[in-house]
Amino acid sequence: MVVIKKAVLPVGGLGTRFLPATKAIPKEMLPVVDKPLIQYAVEEAYAAGVRQMIFITGRHKRAIGDHFDAAFELEYELEKSGKMDMLAVVHGIKPDDMDCVFIRQPRPLGLGHAVLCAESVVGHEPFAVLLADDLMLGREQAQGGATVLQQMVQAYESSPGTVLAVQDVPRAETRRYGVVDVHGETQPLAEVFGMVEKPAPEAAPSTLAVAGRYILTPAVFDSIRRQPRGAGGEIQLTDGIAALIGQEKVQAFRYDGVRYDCGSKEGFLQATIDLALANPELRTSVLAHLQGLKG
Ligand code: G1P
Repeated sequence: MVVIKKAVLPVGGLGTRFLPATKAIPKEMLPVVDKPLIQYAVEEAYAAGVRQMIFITGRHKRAIGDHFDAAFELEYELEKSGKMDMLAVVHGIKPDDMDCVFIRQPRPLGLGHAVLCAESVVGHEPFAVLLADDLMLGREQAQGGATVLQQMVQAYESSPGTVLAVQDVPRAETRRYGVVDVHGETQPLAEVFGMVEKPAPEAAPSTLAVAGRYILTPAVFDSIRRQPRGAGGEIQLTDGIAALIGQEKVQAFRYDGVRYDCGSKEGFLQATIDLALANPELRTSVLAHLQGLKG
């Protein structure tokens, strides 16, 4: 039985950190090697059993809808010219049993607000949230092992409730994350006793930061609705989750894998290099190029 059938993918952000690339193209469509960021997130969700992808979009995000739609002319041309391998690549973007829903977030009021926009489609069941900016790879994923969201679904099955993917970050960087307060070790799950969005290093309850993967319960919708604007003047998902602590089980999950912060140029380039080196067709030439560089 699949427990998490729906995923919310907020893709409404402006991507200002990647201008000018993101002037006319959504940042989620930037490719790492040959695949757009959003497709990595969708594939991760699909591998975890999710079959309904709910995109929360904004203006200028049409390319994402097009990417997950049929492309009749392209498919016709590939078939006619016998490029069946490429045709399979194009068909694989949206498997037949995957359903895509697009909801427009009318104003960029924050991540909490974006998630709230999905309420009527999610209904009363637990669901996943994936932030495509965070490209996550399970440690053994390339060898057929679990993706990060798959690991989280397993954790949810063993202990139902909210599950937040967490990782250690340097204290100097807490301002970039939601930070959780747990007592003791995450083994790999730990109960969360507090949660703050983007705290200053000296105010952070720990250095355990939330990465862009969540399993949430439907109670979060009402909770988000009750929140005043938080950090950055935005309606924060972190605040909505924090207000559930004490009413429902909120858990931090130390995932087994790596996270690339593709919302930053450094993270995006690291992901590009690592995934190029992991690609058998590119590895030799990319490695030779890197080894030939003079620092
Ligand atoms: C968002 C969340 C934050 C989380 C982060 C993970 O922040 O608000 O709690 O730690 O994603 O990437 P953003 O990166 O959108 O500023």
